[in-house]
Amino acid sequence: MIEKSTDAKRTILHLFADVGIEDEVLATFGEVTRVGIEPEPNPFSTVVQGDARNPPVSRKFDLAVAHPPCQRFSRATAGTGAREDHPDYIDEAREVCRRLADHYVIENVEQAPLRDPVKLTGGMFGMGIHYPRAFETSFQTSRPETAPRWSPETGPLAEQGKEGQAWVGTNDGWRLAKGYAHDWPARDLKRHAVPAPYLRRLLYHWMAAREDGTSSQQIGLTEVATDGGQSSTDIEQPGGGQA
Ligand SMILES: C[S@@+](CC[C@H](N)C(=O)[O-])C[C@H]1O[C@@H](n2cnc3c(N)ncnc32)[C@H](O)[C@@H]1O
Repeated sequence: MIEKSTDAKRTILHLFADVGIEDEVLATFGEVTRVGIEPEPNPFSTVVQGDARNPPVSRKFDLAVAHPPCQRFSRATAGTGAREDHPDYIDEAREVCRRLADHYVIENVEQAPLRDPVKLTGGMFGMGIHYPRAFETSFQTSRPETAPRWSPETGPLAEQGKEGQAWVGTNDGWRLAKGYAHDWPARDLKRHAVPAPYLRRLLYHWMAAREDGTSSQQIGLTEVATDGGQSSTDIEQPGGGQA
């Protein structure tokens, strides 16, 4: 029997991504079109130069994955007192995702004003980094059991490469730490790349939502609650809800 393949039909819009490190994972799920303000080409996506708040694309996609800049909300910026110098594009990113895709994932730091986000850390995936990140999703998702944070005693990447063995901070070190294979620049891998296992987990849930035929519009996401309050069962409502 010939199995029906839907691979060719899956299309992914990757927004706010000049380097496009996550394309390496996204390209295993579908055909990726990436929008960045000063984008670099890579082997995994078709790149479009433009403002991701109003992307120069003329079609709709199955999934949008957006990384609006996080400096405004990050703890590092809070320490400098320069928070207001950085833009908040999260609402615009959400509007673009809804307009251009059936489903979406918006990634940011934990403190960002995402709606009912699921929060993931490296310990949940047995990884040697902590790297907490929050994800607003238009589809139901689940979260691995919380695992202990990787500690300095148990590995050189515990503090995300501030110190440690010589390989920490190299391209190879950060590829290992974040689960990528391509030769991405170390600085971008370290600072702005979503660890590959986080993305895979989220995209498996997207695939399930796709098979169920639930689009973000169908499940009323335009009215999704912002106050969390979901039950602590394994399957969560859109966005996850639990920290
Ligand atoms: C948080 S980083 C995410 C980078 C991503 N992980 C990658 O590998 O490309 C945000 C990215 O969005 C880009 N950016 C900032 N403002 C933008 C805009 N208005 N339109 C498109 N890209 C933008 C930044 O230059 C940066 O590459």
